[in-house]
Amino acid sequence: MFNTLKPMSADPILGLLALYREDHNTHKIDLGIGIYKDESGETPVMSAVKKAEALILQSQKSKSYVAPTGSASFNSAIAELLLGKDINASLGKRRATIQAPGGCGGLRLSAEFIKKANSNATIWVSDPTWANHIPLMKDAGLKFATYPYYDHSSHSVKFEEMINCLETIPEGDVVLLHGCCHNPCGADLNQSQWHQVNETALARGFTVLIDLAYQGLGDGLEEDVFGVRLLAKTLPELIVVSSCSKNFGLYRERVGAMTLITDHPTKTEIATSVIAASARAMYSMPPDHGAEVVQLILNNPVLRDDWSAELAEMRNRINGLRIQLVEQIKASDIDGDYSFIQEEKGMFSFLGIDVPQVQKLVKEHSVYLVDSSRINVAGISNANIGHFVRSLRDVTS
Ligand code: LMR
Repeated sequence: MFNTLKPMSADPILGLLALYREDHNTHKIDLGIGIYKDESGETPVMSAVKKAEALILQSQKSKSYVAPTGSASFNSAIAELLLGKDINASLGKRRATIQAPGGCGGLRLSAEFIKKANSNATIWVSDPTWANHIPLMKDAGLKFATYPYYDHSSHSVKFEEMINCLETIPEGDVVLLHGCCHNPCGADLNQSQWHQVNETALARGFTVLIDLAYQGLGDGLEEDVFGVRLLAKTLPELIVVSSCSKNFGLYRERVGAMTLITDHPTKTEIATSVIAASARAMYSMPPDHGAEVVQLILNNPVLRDDWSAELAEMRNRINGLRIQLVEQIKASDIDGDYSFIQEEKGMFSFLGIDVPQVQKLVKEHSVYLVDSSRINVAGISNANIGHFVRSLRDVTS
């Protein structure tokens, strides 16, 4: 029966990582997959994570099953991290949070849930969006469409076009927004734009799904959830999928959550039972270890301070690299204005070069980035920035 299978091409981001790992060039640079790297090119286990893991090792008494919705203490700690104490308290039982196997698991769970709530729903994603959004969610059987988002020539959000499109989206459809640190372009909505999106969602009645994978890596833990909190306060319904991969460095542990708000506690209770049944049918229960680490950190003031200080260092490093990169590009006589990189947030920005130029960077200079020219800024360091800028000058001259 396996004779009929046809090979699938590798995911563009993961395929590039495999190529990078095989490359023996000692000057190779990985600007592909979105993982944080420190100055020495490592993706360290955060110090608060190490401490929480030591506590678990000492004190955990059982590894029996938890639940399809995961750990209750993780779920409430995550809800408070996203929403803040006051909004979370005012939502009360209108809000439920369900632990998921990473942000990807949360997105897939949301897709299954949306399909059950409205099998005709179209999910509207930004143009461009993260390369895995559609593959992840489309197997649930949903339709997809795009709304205009990033203007490659002005390197900014095409907000008027975006809002004009949102104004045509009907109730029953879902609009997927990036909570902060847009992947792949790094261009985020400003506060007044979030207000306009909020008003449009209220007026049109479509449902908003926010993908929040980078809280704390843009402007700060509170600043990065401005949009999430605004919409949570005002919209009758909202889904937020959050990930602890990047801000806790827990990538391989698969820690994420789906937070759901409806306009009535009874609806939230019913919806939670539907989501729990999907989780049970797909993977039964999410993995526990990483979620336990996160809840220990968030509920322990000393660990929490340690974590947020290290996260601030990571954020400051990325923002500093953005400035340094723009300066070095300016100083190296490369044609074009790259100052937009300094304005963008989070790990990613597009360089704005074409596919042959990207291929040349990969093949001739061992500088690895995806064909869209998206770079992971965190992959740059003092040691490799010179090689990167010289390589960029070569392929653009
Ligand atoms: C990325 O966009 O590179 C990250 O979100 C990692 C991934 O799984 O694609």
